Amino acid sequence: MLELKNITKEYGTASEKVHALKGISLKFREAEFVSILGASGCGKTTLLNIIGGLDRYTSGDLIINGKSTKDFKDRDWDSYRNYKVGFVFQSYNLISHQTVLSNVELALTIGGISKKERTKRAIKALEDVGLKEHIYKKPNQLSGGQMQRVAIARALVNNPDIILADEPTRCTRYKNKYSSYGNFKTNFKRQINYNGNT
Ligand SMILES: Nc1ncnc2c1ncn2[C@@H]1O[C@H](COP(=O)(O)OP(=O)(O)OP(=O)(O)O)[C@@H](O)[C@H]1O
Ligand SMILES: [Mg+2]
Repeated sequence: MLELKNITKEYGTASEKVHALKGISLKFREAEFVSILGASGCGKTTLLNIIGGLDRYTSGDLIINGKSTKDFKDRDWDSYRNYKVGFVFQSYNLISHQTVLSNVELALTIGGISKKERTKRAIKALEDVGLKEHIYKKPNQLSGGQMQRVAIARALVNNPDIILADEPTRCTRYKNKYSSYGNFKTNFKRQINYNGNT
């Protein structure tokens, strides 16, 4: 469902170019769980950002469900990001003054879903990651592993086709939790692109 064809990414100006990706070709099937490992600075985050539509490739092509993205406009990338991809960022990007529940609900605001339905789905996603008892807490009242699980719930609540996670291996708890995602993965036929830390 996703294919990278000779993707390159260059950062910077003509005089000082960084070749972050030098021709990456890869295929991901549906419901596949993929880890990308490599030394710091080798281009893992760059690759994930491109796969997730957060950043643009310099050359090559990213094929999404058989469709080239060469002529994608901003709004095509927007809709791809909003409806097809769930992100777990390394820093989790949780909003500190809002409850755990609100943080997850926020991921559903763009979809035009009623408040009641949003709450219901967010609670379900939080239960699925074992945070039922913590939904009315603020992120700073949680442990690192619990915060990470909030970020996972937020990535899953939209039921995206693709889940991208940057460097989640730092947290062993999460790893355990992830094994229970085997079920999740099969149920929802998700493709999980998993970016492991070095
Ligand atoms: N916005 C940017 N402008 C210029 N160079 C960049 C930019 N972002 C990343 N780079 C460079 O591109 C290369 C790849 O960076 P990237 O963040 O993808 O690495 P990484 O594999 O995720 O590393 P880490 O394991 O440390 O997170 C590095 O050499 C980095 O310095
Ligand atoms: Mg990185």
